[in-house]
Amino acid sequence: MAKNPTDIQNVVMICNGSDCKKRGAKEIGKALRGCAREHGCKKSTMFVRTKCTGLCKNAPVVCVQPNNKWVTKATPEKAILALQAALLS
Ligand code: FES
Repeated sequence: MAKNPTDIQNVVMICNGSDCKKRGAKEIGKALRGCAREHGCKKSTMFVRTKCTGLCKNAPVVCVQPNNKWVTKATPEKAILALQAALLS
């Protein structure tokens, strides 16, 4: 992660509420960090584990900013696609 907040270009919020955790939030976070590393964007991408976002029926939930892309019923593959779109835009 960037040492200077102004270096942060993308923020990925991964819900770590109980429903999302049960449905693979940890694995998704790992996959997303790997994706940022592979794209050389580890320092410009901030990962935030959130509390429940209130979207539990659609767990697990990931949000990628600045694209404001919400990924519901997320899988590592779906979340990576959202992050890649942000990294390449
Ligand atoms: S636990 Fe993730 S949305 Fe509620």
